[in-house]
Amino acid sequence: MKNKLAIFGGKRTVDIDEPHYVWPPITEKTKEAVLKQLDESISIYDKSGIIDKLENKFSDYYGKKHALLTNSGTSAIHSMYVGADLKPNDEIICPAYTFFATVTPLFFTGATPILVDSNEDGNISPEAIKEKINKNTKGIVVTHMWGMPCDMAPIQKIAKDYDLLLFEDASHAHGAKYRSKTVGSFGDASAFSLQAQKTLTGGEGGVLLTNNENIYYRALLLGHYNKRCKQEIPKEHPLYKFAVTGMGLKLRIHPIAAAIANEQFDDLDRILANRRNIAKKMAIELGNLPGISAPVVPDRVEPTWYAFIMQYKPEELEGLPIEKFYDALIAEGCKELDRPTSTCPLNYHPLFQNPKNLFPTYKGKVKYCKGDFPKAEKFHENSLKLPVWHDPNDEIVDLYIDSFKKVTENYEDLLK
Ligand SMILES: Cc1ncc(COP(=O)(O)O)c(C=O)c1O
Repeated sequence: MKNKLAIFGGKRTVDIDEPHYVWPPITEKTKEAVLKQLDESISIYDKSGIIDKLENKFSDYYGKKHALLTNSGTSAIHSMYVGADLKPNDEIICPAYTFFATVTPLFFTGATPILVDSNEDGNISPEAIKEKINKNTKGIVVTHMWGMPCDMAPIQKIAKDYDLLLFEDASHAHGAKYRSKTVGSFGDASAFSLQAQKTLTGGEGGVLLTNNENIYYRALLLGHYNKRCKQEIPKEHPLYKFAVTGMGLKLRIHPIAAAIANEQFDDLDRILANRRNIAKKMAIELGNLPGISAPVVPDRVEPTWYAFIMQYKPEELEGLPIEKFYDALIAEGCKELDRPTSTCPLNYHPLFQNPKNLFPTYKGKVKYCKGDFPKAEKFHENSLKLPVWHDPNDEIVDLYIDSFKKVTENYEDLLK
C-alpha cells in the first residue's frame, strides 16, 4: 500500500518537536567566555582586550595584515567601500544575486552598483563581469553564495587585467576554501558578517580584512574615532588630523559579541568538517531523487555549507509546482525547509528598481527590473534551502531525507 502523504492526513515523517536545527552552539565554554567578558569590559575604545585578541585570530587565520571588527557585516561592507575611497561616477560590478547588504552600502559612497547575472550555481558569472567593464569601472565585489566559493581564478584575472579592486563579501563562507586558499583572503578587502545565523558568529558583528593600509585607515576613520584612530593611524599620515572625530560614525562591535565569536572561532574547523560529511550524505541521498538537484561541488572548492541549496526541477515531476512540493514537505514536518525571500535577485527590490525617494542622486542610475537577470532569477525561484546539521549523531537528517523520499515517491497524488 502506498504511503499516504501527511498533507492528505497521513503520518508525518518528522514527528519531532521543534527546533529541528539549533544554531549557534551555545556551550558552557561560550557562557564562561561571556561571564569573563562581563568582568573584564563591556565597552572597548581601542584595539585592546578581546577586540585585539579576536582581530589577531582573524589576521592569522586569513593571513591578512589588518582585521577590523565592526558591529555588523553591513558595517564591515560599508567600511570596505569607504576604505577604498570610492567616488561618484565610480562603478562597482556586483552580483545580482546576493543578500542586499553586499551592495546597499555603495549608496552611501556615491559609487554606482552595476549588477550582473550569476552562473547556474548562483555565484557571480566571470563572463558577465567582463561584459560590464568600462572606463568608470573601479572594482568588483563577489559573494560566495551560501558558502560555495566563487570561481576566483578568472575573477582575479579580470581584476588584474583591468586594474580593478577586488572585494569579497564572505559572510556565508567563513573557513571555505578555493584551491586550498581560504575564501576572504583573495580580495583587496573582504568583509564577513558575524550575525547569529552565520557559520562563525558573535550574535551580531562583522569584520573587515585587508592588507591595504589606506583601506584600513579610512575604515578606522569611518567608525572607530578617537582613541583607536590615534592609536593606529601614524601621526604623519595626511588623515591623522581627523582622528578625533573620524567620519563621525560609530561602528564598534560589542565586546560580548566579540567574546562569543572568539570562543566559537576555536571550533570552526571541527564544525566545518562535520558539516562537510553531513552535506555529502545529503547531496547523495537528495540529489538522486527526481525533482531535486543537489549543489554541485567542484574539486577545487571546500564550501562551508552555510546552507544546502537544492534546485527544484518540476520537469522531472510532471510539472508539479514548487509551492505544492514545498507545502507537502512542510506537512511532513520539514519545518526547516525554506524558500529564501530577502536573499534574492536584487532587481526584485524597489530599492534597485527606483531608489530616488531614498537616494535622490541615484535616480536614473539604478533602474533594474524583474527579468533582467534570467539565471539568477531561475536559481532563486527554484531554490529549496535546508540547513546542514553538524552533529554526526543527529538523526533528524535521516528523517528529513525520508520526507523528501516520501514526497517524491508520491508526487502524483499532489498533481491531482
Ligand atoms: C551575503 C551577506 N552579506 C552581508 C550580510 C549582512 O550582515 P549583517 O546582518 O551582519 O549586517 C548578510 C547577512 O545576512 C549576508 O548574508
